[in-house]
Amino acid sequence: MGIESSCDDTSAAVLCDGVLLSNVTASQAVHEQFGGVVPELASRAHQLNIVPVVDTALKKAGVSADELSAIAFTRGPGLLGSLLVGTSFAKGLALALGKPLVEVNHLQGHVLAHFVRSSQQSDVSRQPELPFLCLLVSGGNSQIVLVERSATEADSKHLPKMRIIGQTIDDAAGEAFDKCAKVLDLPYPGGPWIDKLAKLGNPKAFTFAEPHIPNYDYSFSGLKTSFLYTIRDLMRAHEVETVEALAAKIPNLKEDLCASLQFTIVDVLMRKLKKAAKDLNINQVAVAGGVSANSGLREAFVDYGRRYHWEVFIPPFAFTTDNAAMIAEAGYLKYLDGELCPIDAVPFAKTII
Ligand code: KG4
Repeated sequence: MGIESSCDDTSAAVLCDGVLLSNVTASQAVHEQFGGVVPELASRAHQLNIVPVVDTALKKAGVSADELSAIAFTRGPGLLGSLLVGTSFAKGLALALGKPLVEVNHLQGHVLAHFVRSSQQSDVSRQPELPFLCLLVSGGNSQIVLVERSATEADSKHLPKMRIIGQTIDDAAGEAFDKCAKVLDLPYPGGPWIDKLAKLGNPKAFTFAEPHIPNYDYSFSGLKTSFLYTIRDLMRAHEVETVEALAAKIPNLKEDLCASLQFTIVDVLMRKLKKAAKDLNINQVAVAGGVSANSGLREAFVDYGRRYHWEVFIPPFAFTTDNAAMIAEAGYLKYLDGELCPIDAVPFAKTII
């Protein structure tokens, strides 16, 4: 069983011999009214959700708790209060059932979403071959991860070696989507809303300042500021005080701003990925994390794949945002490797993989 509680999704999944039997997630609507995740409310909602979510995951899988062979849980990174609920529950369950405990790094889980095999045909996706590059883009992270076969192990039933070769030096891509959406008074999380409006806008309508960061690293804080200043300058020029009043004066304003922002974020992400793939001579390229649900990014993957002869791997929608299936997958590989964790393991907020 895998248990995920790193942010605002409470999720549990059951995996049997590497095949996913159930994956149940309760998302928390309580944060919408605040325009972002409120950590204290997230922990309380996890406390309410965790028992029914775990129970439903077992029932859907048709498995009883004592049939489980191990309990895997997200140890970090994430919100400490949220992680504490999943960690404590997993420890309690492991102790009560006398089963081993396996800790999972949330970011490794996102990468391993590509290896989840589902009993439902619609969820089956092709799996990348090692070595491959994974663009990991979520609300809290933007990284390029080199995923390699571990030096000592020769088959695919082992946790691969993961090395971050580039990452954001400030904000994550998902945060840029969410914060810019907030400026436009769109609901939280704003990424899917930007995606929706972007389909109706002109991606070349606005130009935003782009980062110039060396190597394979990213930066999105300047882009956020540039987006904000573009709107502020337009409001001054049109002598209005709200985005709504501005939108009433400029036809298609929100759609064009969203399309231009999405175009810029996707372009920044893809250019660094292309450089990494070229330098390392790797043609297996994957994307993971919540932002991989973005339609512009998915199209760019297909387009780059065609142009640069990459084999591209895009996860099914169900495994893009936070889910326990990916935690169960990582836990399964670690369990096979005998990598168990002590009962006194504590969660961590930040880490590198
Ligand atoms: O991986 P995830 O569920 O949680 C973290 O671990 O952070 O990612 C959540 C992020 C949010 O920033 C959300 O706005 C973004 O993924 N997201 C999207 C889309 N769907 C989710 N961003 C852009 N376009 C989307 N369609």
